[in-house]
Amino acid sequence: MYILGINAYHGDAAAAIVRDGELIAAVEEERFNRIKHCAGFPTQSIQYCLRAAGIGIEEVDHVGISRDPSAHLHKKVLMAVRRLSVEGRRQLAEGSRQEAVGRRQSAVGSQDRLRDSPGHLALHVATEDAGGAPAVPVREVVDIRSNGNGHGFARQLADRLRNAAKVRDLKADLAKALGVSTSRLRARFHNIEHHRAHLASSFFVSPFERAALLSLDGFGDFISTMWGEGVGNSIKVLGQVEYPHSLGIVYTATTQFLGFPHYGDEGKVMGLAPYGRPRFIGQFRDIIRTEKKGQFRLNLDYFRHAAEGVDMTWNDGSPKIGRIFSDEYVRKFGAAREPNTQLTDRESDLAASLQLRLEEVAFHILTNLHDETGLNDLGLSGGVAYNSVMNGKILLHTPFQRLFIQPAAGDSGTALGVCYQILNELRAKSKGRRAKGEGQRAKGKGVRAKGEGSAARLGPAANDASRFALGPSPFALTPLPFTGPEFTDEEILEELQISDLKSQISDRKSQISDRTSQISDLKSQISDRTSRSSDAAFVKYSDSEITTRAARDVADGLVVGWFQGRMEFGPRALGNRSIVVDPRRAEMKDILNQRIKKREPFRPFAPSILAEYVGDYFEQTHPAPTMLMVYQIKPERRGEIPAVTHVDGSGRLQTVSRDENARFYQLIEEFYKLTGVPVVLNTSFNENEPIVCTPRDAIDCFLKTRMDVLYIGNHSVRRK
Ligand SMILES: [Fe+2]
Repeated sequence: MYILGINAYHGDAAAAIVRDGELIAAVEEERFNRIKHCAGFPTQSIQYCLRAAGIGIEEVDHVGISRDPSAHLHKKVLMAVRRLSVEGRRQLAEGSRQEAVGRRQSAVGSQDRLRDSPGHLALHVATEDAGGAPAVPVREVVDIRSNGNGHGFARQLADRLRNAAKVRDLKADLAKALGVSTSRLRARFHNIEHHRAHLASSFFVSPFERAALLSLDGFGDFISTMWGEGVGNSIKVLGQVEYPHSLGIVYTATTQFLGFPHYGDEGKVMGLAPYGRPRFIGQFRDIIRTEKKGQFRLNLDYFRHAAEGVDMTWNDGSPKIGRIFSDEYVRKFGAAREPNTQLTDRESDLAASLQLRLEEVAFHILTNLHDETGLNDLGLSGGVAYNSVMNGKILLHTPFQRLFIQPAAGDSGTALGVCYQILNELRAKSKGRRAKGEGQRAKGKGVRAKGEGSAARLGPAANDASRFALGPSPFALTPLPFTGPEFTDEEILEELQISDLKSQISDRKSQISDRTSQISDLKSQISDRTSRSSDAAFVKYSDSEITTRAARDVADGLVVGWFQGRMEFGPRALGNRSIVVDPRRAEMKDILNQRIKKREPFRPFAPSILAEYVGDYFEQTHPAPTMLMVYQIKPERRGEIPAVTHVDGSGRLQTVSRDENARFYQLIEEFYKLTGVPVVLNTSFNENEPIVCTPRDAIDCFLKTRMDVLYIGNHSVRRK
């Protein structure tokens, strides 16, 4: 049985495919179309998933999307009516009825440039969050112009709400994307509520048989936060926080106020926070107010999203979000910082205050969740789960003892959650039928996964008891996080030959006058190596040589591109699409920024450490295989690895185990043999673009940056 999961029509579009419970592929659309956080429909991701599974779309049994327009519909209606009423009264009081009508008429049909007015009913129906980014709702618009008989509003509202409640026409879009007739699609289509997809993504692929679950997000299907308990095949929702109250909204609004306007910029604010003092914590405690039973509410005076609405664009490009913070931010904190201007202590202090308040409220929710469930294992998801500083403190500040964060914790990961939610719902129904039949043979009407074992639920490795122990690698028995495209050495060689590296590098050399590194005649690099290429601009190494050579280059202070195996799912490069350098060299941070990354200098770079040594270098030892936890580096070790030690002595580590990624482990192990340090600096293989996907992408990035050497499969290309 094949299940295709989709995250579509908002940021970080993605697809995943599961066969009989086995995860075959999961990938984000941005990697193919090279548009960061790309929204829209994940056509190429779906095509890749089908190729990876070796099937056509007609063989897919179930298709699901992480959105359910009908979820919480009555609450959406109430919110919209309330808003309409308030706005209408305001306009009547101003005597501006004619103006209002004019605005209503001009706005009809302009979904991407919306302005609220009495003539429009904004329904907040879906969310986004990405790249460390909790974010905000996209809106659907209802034209409620009266038809003059007094019933127009009610009728049209009802019509529109029925439309909103319908399943979006995913089937037609899917058929169109794949260039086939809808008659070829025999799959059953499902809408999975956004946060249930998040929760599923953090449970059914986790090492836990039973766990407390929390999704912290911007918004999705009118909900910003949902928590519950996963047991066997099912997830029971225990609580939620509804629109317009959202931690993600606060983080995004403050990020905008601090002069970082792009989708996914929230991670920059997290990186800025350790430079400041939380002297505005009082104001942020007023902005986010905690309540009993894990609830919280926003002081909406600070925001525009509930009262006025916010412009958003969710087309096929990168998402764009209008200003969320209100003038109250300006009254309390002064003028907003203009992008690309000098950062002052005020910005750092605001970032520190925001981060502290986020952590306080998250721990408030989690402590309640622990009280409710009595469980010590936690699965965390949602866009806010990309806040690795918060994550790293959870086990210190709450009663939870083990924590699982799926690598694509944000919305792309809901594609994965959709697959396993559908699978486990089917499994639970199947079990129910069997139980009802008192042991009689199942009638065969329902769908039952092939290969079902005795495990209580289905996940990537549900039948292996060892998966329930959170060892050095929670993903050891799953393909996660390496679920994307991979390429053979033959395919890589072909791309290298096509690329004509020698001439391109030479051309580049003549074009870049300030380049300090000299590009050698690459033929001289061949030495006695045997290359299959007629153009000897690269070298091929054996499996063992590739890691020793690369480790030597890292230890020698070179900037090393490392392209291996299947691409990672989620925003972190975890050793297959990475740039690796020596963490002992403090200057490497500036070198990386100058030559390749072009990031703000205050942002830290991350360490990857052999899992066995994490306790030697960090204050905490819980596995962090997806680079989504920040721990304090032991004070006596900070001077040893300055390039990955943040200003507050922390590091956003990746624990690397041999069974999860043998080649990357070997690279670090070889570096350890050379230097005595079991740590490398690992940053994503890209230059202000989505992480590279194909050999072509990697070669392009190598050529346009000042990377010293590229290890791509078993081949290597070098410049001197
Ligand atoms: Fe989300």
